[in-house]
Parts: sequence; C-alpha cells; structure tokens
Amino acid sequence: MADNLLEIKGLKTYFYTEDGIVRALEGIDLHIEQGETLGLVGESGCGKTVTALSVLRLVPDPPGKIIEGEILFEGVNLLALSESDMRQIRGNDISMIFQDPQSALNPVFTVDNQLREVIELHQGLDKKEARQKAIEMLDLVGIPDPEARVEDYPHQFSGGMKQRVMIAMALSCNPKMLIADEPTTNLDVTVQAQVLDMINNLRKELGTTVLLITHNLGVIAEMSDHVGVMYAGRLVEYGDADTIFHAPLHPYTIALHEAVPRVTEKKQKLGVIKGVVPNLIYPPSGCRFHPRCDFSTEVCEKEQPKGEWVGDHYVECWHRREGTKL
Ligand SMILES: Nc1ncnc2c1ncn2[C@@H]1O[C@H](COP(=O)(O)OP(=O)(O)O)[C@@H](O)[C@H]1O
Ligand SMILES: [Mg+2]
Repeated sequence: MADNLLEIKGLKTYFYTEDGIVRALEGIDLHIEQGETLGLVGESGCGKTVTALSVLRLVPDPPGKIIEGEILFEGVNLLALSESDMRQIRGNDISMIFQDPQSALNPVFTVDNQLREVIELHQGLDKKEARQKAIEMLDLVGIPDPEARVEDYPHQFSGGMKQRVMIAMALSCNPKMLIADEPTTNLDVTVQAQVLDMINNLRKELGTTVLLITHNLGVIAEMSDHVGVMYAGRLVEYGDADTIFHAPLHPYTIALHEAVPRVTEKKQKLGVIKGVVPNLIYPPSGCRFHPRCDFSTEVCEKEQPKGEWVGDHYVECWHRREGTKL
C-alpha cells in the first residue's frame, strides 16, 4: 500500500445562506498518495474549490461550516487542530495557488519583497540569502532574467508570468503538498501548457505532492497519476489516470470525456453535457446526476447509489452495481 499524504473521510461542508443550506460537500472520501499528482475534475459548481478550502480550513465562515468528517494530513486530523497549528500547516506544509493570481500577490510590493518575506520566515535565511533564493525560485519557474525581474511589481508581469510568480511564492516555503485550483484557466492555450509543464517538472524535481483542480479533463490527461471526478458535492468516480481516461464507468465521467474539445477535428467542437449542475440547496433525490443521465431508472431517482471499489477503482452508480453495461 502506498503512503497517503492526505486522506479525506466522510467530509461534509455546508453553507448556511439566507436562501437555504447549500450542501456543497455531501460526504467526500478521497486520498492522495505521497509524491503523486491527483487530478480533481468536474464542472463548475461541483465542489472542487470547497474541497481545497476545507483541507486548508479556509472555508468562509459564515456562511460555511465543515460539519462532519476527517481530513488526515500525515495521519493528523486537521479538523482537530487549533487555529495557530493550522496556520503552521498552511505556511509550511500545504500551499495553494488560486485561479486568480491577483488575489495572492500584493500590488504595492515588489516580487522580491513578497518572496523574501515567505523565504525568510520559512527557511530561516537572512535578507541577502533570501534574496538569492527568491531569484533562484523565479529562475526555477521559468521567469527570464530573474535578477532584474525580482525588482518588479506584480502588474509589470503578464498573466502567465504572474501565475509563475505565484507558483514560485507557493513553493518558496517548500510545501509537502501544492494545491493548484484551476491554475491555468485564465491563460491562453500555449501558456497553459507551459505552466502545467512547469508544475510537472517541479513535482519531479522537488517531490511535491500535487492536487490539481480543473473543470477540464483534457488539462490533467498527461500529468495525473490518479483522477477524482466530482459531481454536485460527491466524488462519483476515482481511479488511476489510465482507467479514468480509457475505461471510465460513471456516465458523468463518460459525458465529461465527450465534452473535451477535439482539437484534431477541423473545427473545434465542444460537446456539452445536457442540463446544468443543480443548485445544491435543492440537490436532486437519489443519485444527484440522475436528471442528466441517459441511463437513469427508477432506483436512480430514489436512492443514492452506494460506492463500489473494484481494486483501485471507485465508482458510485446504480447501474454499475447491477452490472448493466453502460
Ligand atoms: N461562500 C459560499 N456561499 C454559498 N455557497 C457557496 C459558497 N462557496 C461555494 N458555494 C457553493 O458550493 C458549491 C460548490 O462550489 P465550488 O466548490 O466553488 O465549485 P467548483 O470549484 O467545483 O466550481 C456550489 O454550489 C457553490 O454555489
Ligand atoms: Mg472552483
């Protein structure tokens, strides 16, 4: 059995809003092995970001609350830690890069200032050493001419370069785990590929465990060891990347594959899955995917399917359980 760096058990996170209770995570089980990249996919609104924020205990409260479950990081339940211990974890062990670099970089300080602060704090280096390290980090993430660029302010970098600076910042505390939440969504396709390549190389070089979140299956095809598929607050399928890409069992995963743009065809054709992700104040009865599923029958409407493991492959779907060929 491989070592799990992170293990999420029965996690429920709700938002208590004026309109009602948003059941954003309805009992998630997920694990990430030491040193691997786990891709977490699903359409917008399925609970990917809330999963990441729950791990870091950064779910906005109010209205959000983690109401049940365990999040074990190196065997320690993060949900039982004090806020100050949790701050240590966030600063030293788990770093997150957000979709929008604007939110992580302070516009009024130079990159040198911001990177050095993290490095001095976490690596116990003096100012001069920390500056050298900051330059090394910029070089590592592929910023050309890092000695000069380190003096620049965030707005002087292009979108793709800003994303790299943010990654440098997230990595400068040498985290054991990097959570990348849609790290390339706002970037054009070429830059996307470069940033993903970079994350992949860093993982190999530094041994960082990566949780890569995206709404696009195509993005994680080449870099994930395992893939988790989320739908409407549930983990509906999990397996090694090869299985999820070549032998998926859940109708939602299959639909996601069909929605990946086919660049090989003459015209880029983006398939869409019929219907929309439900409002999680009123999630559908039974299997949450049933209103959108071509294979839905009475049982799907009535009862939440129990998850089933076949070796390393997890799927929750009534018809998979009954052995119906999808
Ligand atoms: N601050 C919040 N208040 C109320 N509902 C929220 C809040 N943040 C997220 N949600 C809800 O939680 C669900 C999951 O959201 P999220 O994790 O952001 O989805 P994803 O990252 O997969 O696009 C959605 O229904 C969303 O509306
Ligand atoms: Mg999100």
